[in-house]
Amino acid sequence: MEERGWMKGGGLEVDHERMAFLRQKFNDWAYGYEDTVEKVSIQSSFNLYSAARAHKASKILEVGAGCGLAARIFISYLMKKHCSFFVSDISEKMNEIFVQRFLETDTASDPEVKLVTLEESDVIDVDQEINNVEDNFLKRIFSCRANNECLPFSDNSFDLYIACLSLMIVPNYKNQLTEAYRVVEEGGAAAFSVWGREENCTMLTFVCEVFKEAGIEYTSGSTLTFKLSDKGFLIKDIKEVGFKEVKGFYTMTNPCFPTVNEAYDYSVSSANAQLSLKNCTSEEREHLKLTFYQMYEERYGNDTSELMSWETLVIIATK
Ligand SMILES: C[S@@+](CC[C@H](N)C(=O)[O-])C[C@H]1O[C@@H](n2cnc3c(N)ncnc32)[C@H](O)[C@@H]1O
Repeated sequence: MEERGWMKGGGLEVDHERMAFLRQKFNDWAYGYEDTVEKVSIQSSFNLYSAARAHKASKILEVGAGCGLAARIFISYLMKKHCSFFVSDISEKMNEIFVQRFLETDTASDPEVKLVTLEESDVIDVDQEINNVEDNFLKRIFSCRANNECLPFSDNSFDLYIACLSLMIVPNYKNQLTEAYRVVEEGGAAAFSVWGREENCTMLTFVCEVFKEAGIEYTSGSTLTFKLSDKGFLIKDIKEVGFKEVKGFYTMTNPCFPTVNEAYDYSVSSANAQLSLKNCTSEEREHLKLTFYQMYEERYGNDTSELMSWETLVIIATK
């Protein structure tokens, strides 16, 4: 048990060994994630910003933000003035990319916008950090490393909490829900998205089928999971941590890959696929590619109207 500074009733039990593994995995994958997946998951991020009416919020925390492409667009075009936005991830590489890319945007040179990179800490006093920024900055952005299961932020600090596609991969999602509840103020909201129902997530499962057909083992490392895709169950869990009103809906993300080649490149770019390919010979890789092409043509080729799809379950919970 790790004692949390802000928690009145003691700490949550967190599997730090598993966390260290996930942190390393996402550090190693960060640039690959930026090149491929983030261009697709941006749709899920904007679903959350839009459903949670993030343009109205004043103090936002986004956790598991990845390289933060969506966050940067939101900051530039949608975030209201006098809003403070904490952008966090467990992976320092993801955070670094967020900062690096942010500094490349025109928004970074806007005299009303300030980006602060916070030192890693167990305890972050949100209001104090906001007040430390001079008054002339009207949009205050903070980047920091934070673990969704034991957040460093003070209680009741945010009117909006956003978690796009991270709840289903943390070792103990109930810790993440408890922490989301703790850091959101009374009347504030938490918005989560998770992978939807397995049968509607062929963008994630098709490549596993191809590996199997090609006779190559697929290493999912238990991060490919649909355990939270049942809306009723998830809503029940979210209400159990204290949220009063919880709404949910399923929505689709369907990138329309123009060529099988692009579909293949996307499919093998995931951390799990890369891990699975690591020890393959060049013949095995070639065989996998051919198998992918054949199966893809049959199922999603020019003669069909089908697309590989990716369903997400979106939840908006009010405290
Ligand atoms: C599937 S990605 C989603 C990233 C981004 N939200 C998006 O939609 O593109 C999951 C993200 O969660 C982060 N993550 C995984 N476990 C985490 C944890 N325990 N605490 C905080 N972030 C975590 C990963 O580093 C990764 O950036």
